[in-house]
Amino acid sequence: MNYRIIWGVLLAGILNTAHAQDNVEASAKMCFSCHGANGVSMAANTPSIAGQPEAYLKKALLDWKAGLRHSATMAGMVKPYSEEQLSALAAYFAQKPWSPVAQNIDAGQVALGKSVSERCAGCHGEKGASSDGETPNLNGQWAGYVELELHEYRDDSEQLPNKKMRKVAQKLSEDEIKAVAAYFASQGK
Ligand code: HEC
Ligand code: HEC
Repeated sequence: MNYRIIWGVLLAGILNTAHAQDNVEASAKMCFSCHGANGVSMAANTPSIAGQPEAYLKKALLDWKAGLRHSATMAGMVKPYSEEQLSALAAYFAQKPWSPVAQNIDAGQVALGKSVSERCAGCHGEKGASSDGETPNLNGQWAGYVELELHEYRDDSEQLPNKKMRKVAQKLSEDEIKAVAAYFASQGK
């Protein structure tokens, strides 16, 4: 048994891990330019991604990579990265805390949205703080973005992969979309 070789292999493993961590941080900085510092978005049409479930982030990124999910912006963003790098980015953002953002929201819309949200609570949680490790958080997510996503799930030409969300979204009226987005956006932790 050659201990020098074993030590060399171990050391290479440690250095590789450290190197991978540097790489993921460098890539993540590129994401900050739209998703905000550390993944907490300051732009109404761009979602916060810090603290979303790892499985959810990973699936979205790999779906874009595979061409299964439409997004003019994100389909281009994932191109330079391998599946391993995208998985590492998902893990990187998932371990950050979920931070609901304060927004200007109409109180009347929130009240109306609360009753609509009963159709969502089973999966997303009553306030939108999900707990099953795969459903995205909606509490304090940008209302404009939640509306945008609900429109995308309704649109059959988008063919979004989650059939249950498509069904739920197709049953919402325009007014209900506005209201439920306002309700979840107004919720804290
Ligand atoms: C040029 C701006 C821009 C950059 C840079 C960018 N994104 Fe995005 N991203 C968006 C927009 C806008 C959306 C939402 C709309 C959509 O789906 O197209 C989005 C959506 C996402 C989502 C889905 C979130 C959810 O809740 O469904 C994930 C995950 C994501 N981006 C991760 C990343 C990662 C990781 C990077 C860095 C490699 C990155 N993005 C870089 C603009 C950007
Ligand atoms: C059967 C469970 C279920 C129900 C009920 C449900 N959702 Fe979802 N929702 C999900 C899952 C799972 C996803 C992630 C799907 C994906 O990967 O495309 C999701 C995604 C979303 C997204 C996209 C979030 C993001 O970060 O991109 C929004 C917005 C959303 N749901 C809103 C709602 C609203 C509003 C309701 C109620 C009217 C609702 N959902 C009901 C399971 C559910």
